[in-house]
Amino acid sequence: MADAPLDDATGAADDRLTLIAGIVEEFTRQSAEVHDLDALEEIQARYLGRKRGRLTAVFQDMRDLDADTKRQVGAAANRARNAIGAALEELEKRLRASAAAERTQSEAIDVTRPAVPDELGGLHPITRTLAEIESIFVAMGYEVVDGPEIETDWYNFGALNFPPEHPARDAQDTLHLEGDLLLRTHTSPVQIRYMETHEPPFAIIVPGRVYRRDTPDATHTPMFVQLEGLVVDTDVTLADLKGTLDTFAKALFGPQTATRFRPGYFPFTEPSAELDATCPACVGSGCGVCKGSGWVELLGCGMVHPVLFENVSYEPSRYQGFAFGFGIDRITAVRYGVEDIRYYYENDLRFLRQFAS
Ligand code: DAH
Repeated sequence: MADAPLDDATGAADDRLTLIAGIVEEFTRQSAEVHDLDALEEIQARYLGRKRGRLTAVFQDMRDLDADTKRQVGAAANRARNAIGAALEELEKRLRASAAAERTQSEAIDVTRPAVPDELGGLHPITRTLAEIESIFVAMGYEVVDGPEIETDWYNFGALNFPPEHPARDAQDTLHLEGDLLLRTHTSPVQIRYMETHEPPFAIIVPGRVYRRDTPDATHTPMFVQLEGLVVDTDVTLADLKGTLDTFAKALFGPQTATRFRPGYFPFTEPSAELDATCPACVGSGCGVCKGSGWVELLGCGMVHPVLFENVSYEPSRYQGFAFGFGIDRITAVRYGVEDIRYYYENDLRFLRQFAS
């Protein structure tokens, strides 16, 4: 090619200049369609890329041209590269600026918008009542104790003086597990467990879950919460029991509250009694909560049966004690006028929110 005729060389120059002009024109057209940085990178590679860039190819193709043509084409190619380079730089600046503006706008915080209110949770009504009852007894010197929810037949019934044929042992009432294990039907077995490992004098309360094979209705749920009380010492009388429970009822429902004993029966106490309190809702005049009677049933209680002391190797002639037990669910229902105790366990926020404060 070095000795090619002059007009051939001129032809080669013209072809290349036309090609370069075409490349610039096409670039101008395509670059108008570039609206983001990814497309910018692409078009940059397409025209100026080291390997397959269209202008790069023009430079590579100049190697065999004569010096004059090379200078001419080289100058045009350089101008084209500079022009395209400058256009790309300008485009990049614009795209970056608008991307930044977009980000600023999308991340903008409107400080005048109203705040989303923080919703504070509240204690479950059962937890509330339980905490209050515990603090009443703790103030009287009681210790809070707990025990297992899975029990043996002995602790739940036998040691508590339930005769073998007692109806409470029936599978209709008790949820039995493997062997002689069962879900405790009351918190009373903790009386035995505690006495087995402690010497009198003591005063304990035992809150906890208990289970019964009940069909759920407005006053029954298969799981509920009880609180047991047990006091053992060398000189404990029925008067101590009555005084303690009357103090408790007044602390819970208010000083205007009166209490009364009715005779009752529990295998583990002798004598046994049921304690009523004047209805806290109507203070004894009769209302929906107390079904018009003016009284609400509060709990079962009595003097510890000596057989229990024998079962834990206490000397029955030396010790006396009193015990009591009640459902927290029921007392909570009386306090707040809850008509259906199933509400406690349904997690309906419309119910629960009424206790959150
Ligand atoms: N355990 C009884 C029940 O579930 C409640 C009870 C009654 C507990 C009298 C006692 C008591 O400690 O003395 O129905």
